[in-house]
Formats: sequence, C-alpha cells, structure tokens
Amino acid sequence: MTGTAIYPGSFDPITNGHLSLIHRGLQIFDKLIVAVAINPNKEGFFTIDERVEIIRELLKDKPGVEVDTFTGLTVEYVKSRGANVIVKGLRAMSDFESEFQMALMNRRLEREIQSVFLMTDYKWFYISSSIIKEVASFGGDISGMVPALVNQRLKEKFKKE
Ligand code: PNS
Repeated sequence: MTGTAIYPGSFDPITNGHLSLIHRGLQIFDKLIVAVAINPNKEGFFTIDERVEIIRELLKDKPGVEVDTFTGLTVEYVKSRGANVIVKGLRAMSDFESEFQMALMNRRLEREIQSVFLMTDYKWFYISSSIIKEVASFGGDISGMVPALVNQRLKEKFKKE
C-alpha cells in the first residue's frame, strides 16, 4: 500500500457503487480523500453540506478515509493536499469517453499527477446518482442500490418538494 489518493466527484448522492470503489481504493492506498466538488454553475440536488454529512456518517468507522470539499480545478486541489493520484471509477463504455477526456486534460494541466481507474463492481454497473434520483423521484424502490441513510434522505427530500 502506498500514499494518499484523491477520489473526486459530485456524490449527489453517494451510491453503493461509490462506496464499493472507496473500499477497494483503500486496499491500494493508505489514505483516500473523498473530495466533493463544489460546482458554482450547477445546482445540486443535495447541498454540499448534506452530501458531506452523509458521506462522513457512512464512512465514520473507516480509518484512512477523509471527506473534504473543493472548488476549482481537481489537479490544484490534489496538489494542495500533497497528493499525486486521482482515483476514479469506470462503469461502462459511456464513462470511458468522458473519463479519458478528463484524465488527459488533467495530465496536460499537471504532468506529475496520475489518474488511476478502478473498474466498478459488476453489481453496480448500471447505477449512477442521476438514475437513482430519477427512480426515487417517481417513488421507485432504490433499496440495495444506495445505503439506507441515502434512501431515507432521498425520500425526505422528495416529500418536501
Ligand atoms: O461525480 P462526477 O460528476 O463525475 O465528478 C466530476 C468531477 C467533479 C470529478 C469533475 O467535474 C472535476 O474534476 N471538476 C473540477 C473542475 C476540473 O478540474 N475540471 C477539469 C477536469 S478535466
């Protein structure tokens, strides 16, 4: 095992796919910083504070995990944390195109930072935060695809809307 890696993303909300990746990332890296990106141009469903609070609660017993937020470029954040590895998950071919683009751009911006991709477990291949939100918005059953806490928060939020 070696060093610190940054796992950046929107996590709006975190799914079982993300959690699986975090657990597997910890088998490779001593420390994983789950970095929630603040995007001023995109209003999220959960606020940044809500996302962070949920992730912290779910991972509170995992030594080696830190939950943080960042604005601006991922590579700048990675540097500011003294790390040089970005971890991302890859689901299907559709992910490959955008992830490849981001990885090449990040490398162009910062040659010393490496992107490492872990294949998503087949069980979570079809899961994304967006599809989870869509199904939950229509009252579909998403248990087993997200942690119980996320399921509960989604229900509460859709009830309020
Ligand atoms: O969970 P997501 O939405 O796939 O995460 C995408 C994220 C946040 C990792 C990506 O949009 C990002 O890195 N944003 C920060 C701004 C940045 O560095 N953009 C250039 C990346 S090529």
